Amino acid sequence: MYVRDYTVPGRLQDSILYSIEAGGKRLRPILLLATAEAFGAPSEKGVTAAAALEMVHTYSLIHDDLPAMDNDDYRRGMPTNHKKFDEATAILAGDALLTMSTQLIAEDPSLEQTEKLFLIQELTKAAGPRGMVEGQMQDMLSEGKEISLEALENIHKNKTGRLLDFAICAGARLGNASEESMEQMSEMAEALGLIFQIQDDILDVTGDAEVIGKPVGSDVINDKSTYPGLLGLDGAVNQKNDYVGTAQAALKEAGVEGTVLSQLIHYLSTRDH
Ligand code: IPE
Ligand code: IPE
Ligand code: MG
Ligand code: MG
Ligand code: MG
Repeated sequence: MYVRDYTVPGRLQDSILYSIEAGGKRLRPILLLATAEAFGAPSEKGVTAAAALEMVHTYSLIHDDLPAMDNDDYRRGMPTNHKKFDEATAILAGDALLTMSTQLIAEDPSLEQTEKLFLIQELTKAAGPRGMVEGQMQDMLSEGKEISLEALENIHKNKTGRLLDFAICAGARLGNASEESMEQMSEMAEALGLIFQIQDDILDVTGDAEVIGKPVGSDVINDKSTYPGLLGLDGAVNQKNDYVGTAQAALKEAGVEGTVLSQLIHYLSTRDH
């Protein structure tokens, strides 16, 4: 496993492995590999990008759960990293995962230099201060405030959507998708990100903590703006179904309908964890 190859045995490694091996749905790497396959990329090409993406995602969750952020005690059915270890270790585990991610891609012998550059540039853009990190900042700043649906969508697009977008764009690029298909896939990724986050918000209200492996009601406690909060539960479900229609239509236009990607859209909109 990459984590063992890229770290020194000891507390930091234990803490990184704790969160990575806790599992999770592995949605982002699955999405990347499924898109690569749909566009006919050789299967080995997506492996480091998929692992790197899961590392960035896991880092974001470790930091998201910290007391200074969402202050959550459970993640992936286990105590959060800072509960199991301590805050300093959790911060450093996140730092390590983020930095390791791009190293992994840079050192992959199966990728062309241009592919490495594309992947590293797109991953860092998606994760960085005009992507996920900005989304997290806006999410924190909007705690306790009434915000518009537009502002909420913008937060979601950044904090959740951008990493999902990377999964899809990276997969399509490795399969040499045409410019036009890349654009359609990007549209599908945007809708998918919103479907995913609306369902995350819905599950925070209606979910079963045992099944989702993280506490429910965290958004209300932290006074977060959410889809159910803004539109009511029914409104949130309707909005989600609209995006399902958009995502499936974009898939069709990109010529990859009927692949496992259609099933993933369906799964993401109906998942219970
Ligand atoms: C949770 O992501 C965090 C959000 C971006 C809403 P996931 O629901 O994909 O978490 P894991 O990877 O399955 O734990
Ligand atoms: C987390 O969003 C998004 C990122 C970590 C980038 P949430 O705060 O809604 O995720 P959960 O509900 O804790 O998984
Ligand atoms: Mg959060
Ligand atoms: Mg959270
Ligand atoms: Mg949430």
